[in-house]
Amino acid sequence: MARADLLKRIFESYQRRDDAGFRSAAAEIVDEERRKHHPVLANELHRILSNGVRSLERVQGLEPRFDPVPTDGDRKTPLLAVREPDRYFRDLIYDPPARAVLDRTVEEVRDWAVLEASGLRPSCRLLFCGPSGCGKTASAEAVAAELGLPMLYVRFDSVVSSLLGETAANLRKVFDYASRGEWVLFFDEFDAIGRSRDDPTEHGEIKRVVNSFLQLLDGFSGRSLVIAATNFSEALDPAIWRRFDEVLRFQLPDADALDALVTRRLRIVRASRRQVRNVVEAVAGSSFAEAERVCLDARKRCALTGKTRLGEIELAAALDRFRYRRKVFESAVHSVSAPAVDRT
Ligand SMILES: Nc1ncnc2c1ncn2[C@@H]1O[C@H](COP(=O)(O)OP(=O)(O)OP(=O)(O)O)[C@@H](O)[C@H]1O
Ligand SMILES: [Mg+2]
Repeated sequence: MARADLLKRIFESYQRRDDAGFRSAAAEIVDEERRKHHPVLANELHRILSNGVRSLERVQGLEPRFDPVPTDGDRKTPLLAVREPDRYFRDLIYDPPARAVLDRTVEEVRDWAVLEASGLRPSCRLLFCGPSGCGKTASAEAVAAELGLPMLYVRFDSVVSSLLGETAANLRKVFDYASRGEWVLFFDEFDAIGRSRDDPTEHGEIKRVVNSFLQLLDGFSGRSLVIAATNFSEALDPAIWRRFDEVLRFQLPDADALDALVTRRLRIVRASRRQVRNVVEAVAGSSFAEAERVCLDARKRCALTGKTRLGEIELAAALDRFRYRRKVFESAVHSVSAPAVDRT
């Protein structure tokens, strides 16, 4: 709890509409919480104070909390979205080495000032690779939540412009915006930006985009964490790999990881061990997202039939639906990859 005199000062400055007084008392509270070894609270308070919250009007909610996001010069569409995630590491399933990397990163970023005082820099450039539905986006959100930072979510297709040179300008706007606060700056579907500069099929514009991205990343000195996620790590330019402090590979879950996920997601409908094992067997080889879908489907069926415990009928129906989806997906993939039949 902050000291009584500080609390009095902050209330009085609110009453007097004294922005400077408010900020100085608030900053002292942040320092005090840090001294008391409450880094999560201190970071959260500091972030609320610094991220575009420039006046009491903003604190009171009369103005938006964040500056307006940059837009594409031509299409005027937003280049990023500000998100405030509330999903944490404890909500996701990790293998111990991946979790250790994430914990360590969060720890280093929280103690940024301590490292800086020793001439060091935290690991603050992360690359997430791996198949779809295995936690890349969810983990970037969890990193932001653990740090109490908002996330700047940048999708590649919102940055790419058909106009020559516009894409690089868009990237610059994204980094400029990011440099005005502390965030987790997250580039999703990054493979599209990072496709190898040596790939002869790539248009020259992409090569210029890669170069601009690398320059902007090198010149970016804000106290933010940059995370990029890609499904195809092989397609990434080696120069890009080098720029990241940590590369995390997300894998398809094994039976134990699926068991942990299904047990958690079906706890609310009191699924038996046998029911959990049935689901795990049925979804073997699927991603976390697919397994989760089955659990949510079963829960929806329970909710619609007014059941508080998972019934065999609801479970069977959810599994049937999953098998049907898998068949449709496999036949779609097969029809795309099958060679054309010569009918001449
Ligand atoms: N490791 C995990 N533990 C628990 N749930 C997970 C995990 N990974 C994914 N999920 C669930 O699956 C959903 C989709 O995952 P996510 O969006 O993170 O996948 P992704 O790796 O970013 O996929 P894509 O490459 O398609 O963008 C998450 O919102 C989460 O609910
Ligand atoms: Mg994703």
